[in-house]
Amino acid sequence: MFSLPKLQYSYDALEPFIDAKTMEIHYTKHHQAYIDKLNKALEKYPKLQKNSAEDLIKNLPVVPEDIRTAVRNHGGGHVNHSFFWQVLKKGVEPKGEILKAINKKFKGIDNFKELFKDAATTLFGSGWVWLVVNKEGELEIMKTPNQDNPISNGMMPILGIDVWEHAYYLKYQNRRPEYVDAFFNVINWDKVNEHFLNARK
Ligand SMILES: [Fe+2]
Repeated sequence: MFSLPKLQYSYDALEPFIDAKTMEIHYTKHHQAYIDKLNKALEKYPKLQKNSAEDLIKNLPVVPEDIRTAVRNHGGGHVNHSFFWQVLKKGVEPKGEILKAINKKFKGIDNFKELFKDAATTLFGSGWVWLVVNKEGELEIMKTPNQDNPISNGMMPILGIDVWEHAYYLKYQNRRPEYVDAFFNVINWDKVNEHFLNARK
């Protein structure tokens, strides 16, 4: 049985960029719902319950067809949100290897932010925008619909933004660009750097 991972900070830790109410509902209601539905889908397949959620969505073709969509959506929802909470922290500047790599690939952090914001604001409907290490070991900005995760396509996500309306609507309503600007103030670049170093191993 999967369960909600402990949040390593309080609901108001990301104020004013991400408000406490949004954090609380997002974590206790939305994330919990993905976990509940994933557990429900796996009920009739006890063997599969021994896998990590990451392993399940990395290998969707081996998941039985009758629960594949549920595992893709709800397993993805669980993996994505667990990942998202970890890459959020206020007041961390980009530095180290990830900063060097971003400067090299995107010609500067400001240019990277512009491209990332463009991807996040033009993603139609619900989904995520990621910074990934692709199969060639290069940084790449990538959009995924719904709760899909780049690991299903052999990419390693190192940063991600949830652009489902539930992630920002209470505070920003329909103003997704403002939410994306705010997000840049709460990126835990130390964690992103850690993911980057692991992805390159
Ligand atoms: Fe979400």
